[in-house]
Amino acid sequence: MSSFENQARFPSYRPRRLRSKVALRELIRETTLSPSDFIWPLFVMDGEDTAFPIPSMPGISRHTIDRLPNLAAKAKSLGIPAICIFPYTEPTLKTEDCKEAWNSNNLTNKAIRAIKDAVPEILVMTDIALDPYNVKGHDGIVRDGQILNDETVEALVKMGAAQASAGADILGPSDMMDGRIGALRTMLEQNGSHNVCILSYSAKFASNFYAPFRDAVGATSALDGDKNTYQLDYANGDEAMRMIARDIAEGADMIMVKPGMPYLDICYRAKKQFRVPTFAYQVSGEYAMIQSVNNHEHVDEKKAMLESLLAFKRAGCDGILTYFAPVAAELLSR
Ligand code: PBG
Repeated sequence: MSSFENQARFPSYRPRRLRSKVALRELIRETTLSPSDFIWPLFVMDGEDTAFPIPSMPGISRHTIDRLPNLAAKAKSLGIPAICIFPYTEPTLKTEDCKEAWNSNNLTNKAIRAIKDAVPEILVMTDIALDPYNVKGHDGIVRDGQILNDETVEALVKMGAAQASAGADILGPSDMMDGRIGALRTMLEQNGSHNVCILSYSAKFASNFYAPFRDAVGATSALDGDKNTYQLDYANGDEAMRMIARDIAEGADMIMVKPGMPYLDICYRAKKQFRVPTFAYQVSGEYAMIQSVNNHEHVDEKKAMLESLLAFKRAGCDGILTYFAPVAAELLSR
């Protein structure tokens, strides 16, 4: 039986009545978008007082650590609660064993401390995966052409421990190895980091939309092959639900769907089924696509951007990782 059964008929029921005035439309609006919905991804690099524009992502730059306090202050003044750090690692620091990943003084850990020292209220999220530190460009340790699972999880645990002791508030495992959430949670409990959250990239698909990001973190030329033996086949929605269930059972506090816009069905199903804090990552390729309508006289880039972000809320997401965070927050606060 449909829930519209008791609805009056035209002309008693004139659906346009509720759309007839701005204030009425505002009054009955079902979902809203606010700066507090955003996690702002930032690319960091070595050096001094420099921003390097990323060619594949017009409008986005890599920043040196000394610029982070200002960016964190900007996030705070805009009402953005969290920043997510992605490092551009010098090629000379990339090795087969990826040991730079758990160096307590690597770029990510320096960035965490710089932000937490300057603006402690801003949440710092990290990415947990070995690709920025791997000569092979993969998220896991590679041997004889295989991406090793269990050895990678051991490395990820060391990486997460270093990030938690640097002061990270949220760990974001994006690697898609099996067993990593449970291993990270056990480590956090043993180390007394009870309140460090895990936002698991549970439903991370092997997507073509990550290409500009790989350019941004300098992983494009390093990547040997594809990520299809660990990231999800983008044809599979039920499998994504199984991964989310598994990660929640292993101790994830929040879950993520990635990419975002082509995967709104996954966001919707995830929230309906699990009712846990659910995020979408509007990834670099989505950013580049929406940003490029800038040059299109018929599409208003800013309005299209806000529409794309609100769609995540409508699909059930609690928040969005988006490179548009500061621009969108500024528009929303006007
Ligand atoms: C690394 C990682 C990737 C992204 C976030 N973390 C790339 C990948 O898996 O190849 C992509 C983000 C984006 O495209 O904006 N594991």
